[in-house]
Amino acid sequence: MIVARTVAEFRAARAGAPAPVGFVPTMGYLHQGHLALVHAAREECATVAASIFVNPTQFGPNEDFERYPRDEERDLQLLEAAGTDLVLLPPVDEMYPPGDTTRVRVSGITEVLEGARRPGHFEGVTTVVSKLFAMVQPDRAYFGEKDGQQLRVIRRMTRDLLLPIEIVACPTVREPDGLAMSSRNVYLSADERAQALSLSAGLRAASEAFDRGERDAGRLRAMVREGIEAQPLTDINYVSLADSETLEELDGAVGRAAMLSLAVRFSGATLIDNVTLEP
Ligand code: PAJ
Repeated sequence: MIVARTVAEFRAARAGAPAPVGFVPTMGYLHQGHLALVHAAREECATVAASIFVNPTQFGPNEDFERYPRDEERDLQLLEAAGTDLVLLPPVDEMYPPGDTTRVRVSGITEVLEGARRPGHFEGVTTVVSKLFAMVQPDRAYFGEKDGQQLRVIRRMTRDLLLPIEIVACPTVREPDGLAMSSRNVYLSADERAQALSLSAGLRAASEAFDRGERDAGRLRAMVREGIEAQPLTDINYVSLADSETLEELDGAVGRAAMLSLAVRFSGATLIDNVTLEP
């Protein structure tokens, strides 16, 4: 496994890599959710590239950029064991050269849900992913359904910018009790960790109700809310049932593919999760 810390080093290693090249962008502190993306890339691609970069431009001024968990040595061991060929691990000034003023912005679907909660977040994501795509030039790039809106934003950007990259979605990997794996789960106290189960449990209950024929958007959202509101350490930011493509909020009967998603604040972290409902 080659570990490159500069754009030039990465380009040199990339030059000889056999196609197709699969790419897994991450912010590190890897868990089984990230590694599932690496495994999927390993199955389908001759070369597997990954990046570890905690991207400052996607964090708001009061967010956790400084204290975002990091463990470079462990991450590299995990990537190597999973069969990664190339790792890009750049310092901030490699990704954002001094004086950098260019941003990539997708409008519309970035303005709701996580975009409304975190102004500027998706502009940071699309900017850094564009740079990473330009550097890695992958044939396929792997993203988790866990970040459902991010996946849709990246698909839109890739299509709109005519990038010759296939975006591959991988299912959310969960703890045995249902909690979606996230680098931010380490911020939860033991009590919060127990109460966080209400997120996946609510989504699962609504999804099962949907499969039994419940189609009312308001009732499906309410099912998710009730279970979470019963937990005193939770503070709901949103529970949304939206068109799976446009992310427009749905009312009345759900007649097409929809994303049921939520963001819930705990004292040290906000967690997100989602499921797709398909009639
Ligand atoms: P990060 O949160 O590290 O996630 C990297 C990738 O892993 C994303 O595609 C995310 O959806 C996926 N992932 C995280 N938890 C998962 C889980 N439990 N199951 C399946 N996939 C999971 O998302 C980012 O980093 C950044 O925004 C990035 C795209 C790297 C741009 O900076």
